[in-house]
Amino acid sequence: MAKNNWNTVLYEGKHEFVWKYGEEVIELLAPQPGEYILDLGCGTGQLTDKIAATRAKVTGIDRSKEMIIKAKKNYPQLNFAVADATKFTLEQPLDAVFSNAVLHWIKRPEAVINCIQQALKPGGRFVAQFGGKDGVKQILQALTETLANSGYGVATNPWYFPSIGEYTSLLEKHGLEVTYAHLFDRPTPLESGDAGLPNWLKMFAGSFVSRLSTEEEKEIIEQVVTKLKPILYSDGIWTADYRPIRIMAVKCLN
Ligand SMILES: C[S@@+](CC[C@H](N)C(=O)[O-])C[C@H]1O[C@@H](n2cnc3c(N)ncnc32)[C@H](O)[C@@H]1O
Repeated sequence: MAKNNWNTVLYEGKHEFVWKYGEEVIELLAPQPGEYILDLGCGTGQLTDKIAATRAKVTGIDRSKEMIIKAKKNYPQLNFAVADATKFTLEQPLDAVFSNAVLHWIKRPEAVINCIQQALKPGGRFVAQFGGKDGVKQILQALTETLANSGYGVATNPWYFPSIGEYTSLLEKHGLEVTYAHLFDRPTPLESGDAGLPNWLKMFAGSFVSRLSTEEEKEIIEQVVTKLKPILYSDGIWTADYRPIRIMAVKCLN
């Protein structure tokens, strides 16, 4: 199982719901022709392309070289670069920073917010969606308990799922005024069939089991699936207990 090495084939093939839900957040962003916009953690570029379709001047950055190679292949006419959200700088001041399904992967939120603040023009907006407080709680609990009982060592949780209060306070601390914040339950159907949850675990929960042997990993996944089946599986569909947070904030004028 991959750690946080992004498997672009599995991502594009089985997890397109990630960027499909992100399309709603582009409405909140409301990109305008000619605006300079950054797609932070652009993955394989599908939402970068949607933003570009509004005739905004968009650039996508991502820490994963594999994701950027695939994004460039998918959309050769767009700008993409490998860069880390915790330490990027840009020459062109931005009208907006957009980010979908990225920020819960980064455990140093203030480093990211600081970079975003520096990159925006005064009055520029930051619009993001990512995992919020108690996101995938049942899956997380099943993984943690199963690993604890297995004797294979403790789980390494890769996610940061803040509450509205926590995250908006960080934005305010860094000179961004919050104009919209919404945390909500979004039960999310995974790819249909029995493989829905195992494939989701392979794609997104690799770091929980990265230190295990292939056999141990298989055993853990089977136990997690058995534990969660009565709760998250119905009529041939696995449903993940996502809780996204959507945020819009504006860089203060002074
Ligand atoms: C679930 S994907 C979402 C991709 C895209 N935004 C979408 O909606 O399809 C998460 C992305 O966050 C990127 N990512 C994780 N940590 C990052 C960091 N520190 N800096 C930049 N990108 C990061 C990953 O490489 C991955 O492409």
